[in-house]
Amino acid sequence: MRIDILTVVPELLVSPLGESILKRAQSKGLVEIVVHNIRDYTTDKHRQVDDYPFGGEAGMVMKPEPVAAAIDALRAEREYDEIIYTSPDGVRYDQHEANRLSTLGNVIVLCGHYKGLDHRIRDLYITREISIGDYVLTGGDLAAAVMVDSMVRLLPGAIGDEESALTDSFQDDMLAPPVYTRPAEWRGMRVPDVLLSGNPMLIRDWQEAQALERTERLRPDLLK
Ligand code: ADE
Repeated sequence: MRIDILTVVPELLVSPLGESILKRAQSKGLVEIVVHNIRDYTTDKHRQVDDYPFGGEAGMVMKPEPVAAAIDALRAEREYDEIIYTSPDGVRYDQHEANRLSTLGNVIVLCGHYKGLDHRIRDLYITREISIGDYVLTGGDLAAAVMVDSMVRLLPGAIGDEESALTDSFQDDMLAPPVYTRPAEWRGMRVPDVLLSGNPMLIRDWQEAQALERTERLRPDLLK
């Protein structure tokens, strides 16, 4: 998989994409993540990426030309399955979308910034607009980092224990059951006996019952 991220603040993505599982997935060759500075696609002396909005509202708008030049340059190299724009007015991101995106070949993620993006780019290039939640971030970069993280950890081989991505919260529209580690007793609290029983069937049944109970209690909306 290849992910090209277009941003006006590439520095914001360095650490989230350069550590831990994401770092390892890239060095193993499971994914190639390339961050591009939209400013590198400007042609004017001031390398201007934003301008005042027509109609006189507050805030600045991302100019169409550098964004189009960046996307055109990438599309001249290869075909893309999705050109995603991160924005609070996109569709709400969830595990189903993470699963779908992780199966694609080449993806562009355009990070929104300022007051927004000239709408002609949205009309002409963007195939999917995604929001990571109903709140407004300073820019779409952190949203892109969240999305890319959730996609990459699903790639086969990205996580050591093959099973662990499948038993995540939300993977079956359920919260995960509680987990414990040693010591078996700590501050007078014992780990549930069933987990020490060594009986895989009993453990599985207990985990499923716990997952259902927690989902009903904490996130009943997921069961609808
Ligand atoms: N940009 C600003 N807020 C955002 C959000 N909630 N999701 C995606 N991109 C954003």
